[in-house]
Amino acid sequence: MSPFRTLAVATLALTSTWAAAQTDVNLARNLAATCANCHGTNGNALGKDVKPLAGVPAANIVGLMAAYKAGAIPNTTIMHQIAKGYSDEQIKLIAEYFAAQKPAQK
Ligand code: HEC
Repeated sequence: MSPFRTLAVATLALTSTWAAAQTDVNLARNLAATCANCHGTNGNALGKDVKPLAGVPAANIVGLMAAYKAGAIPNTTIMHQIAKGYSDEQIKLIAEYFAAQKPAQK
């Protein structure tokens, strides 16, 4: 393979990795945006009735969502229905997105 060709292949590989990462970032953000009505922009809930999700460890969110999905924890409102609307992979993306958000100063 010519050096130019090697470079072209390497650049292509790098570019597609970058493109995939970009898509994932947007996907996670878009999925997480559906939680904003109640949990606040980027997971920073303003009221005291709904807990903020910003900065909560991803594993905690994944665990709570799985428990809601299974009906394993009591829920007074809507989370049972909401949790059922997402695949495990989508919940993982959402959880990682919120875990990476900076909690608002209180
Ligand atoms: C229609 C409003 C609404 C939307 C939309 C919503 N939630 Fe909730 N969420 C709530 C309420 C209210 C609670 C408190 C549960 C209860 O009733 O006990 C809650 C609780 C939670 C909890 C448990 C928090 C804790 O520490 O106990 C998690 C995790 C959660 N929601 C994640 C999400 C995610 C992720 C999304 C988006 C996919 C989402 N919620 C969308 C209203 C909402």
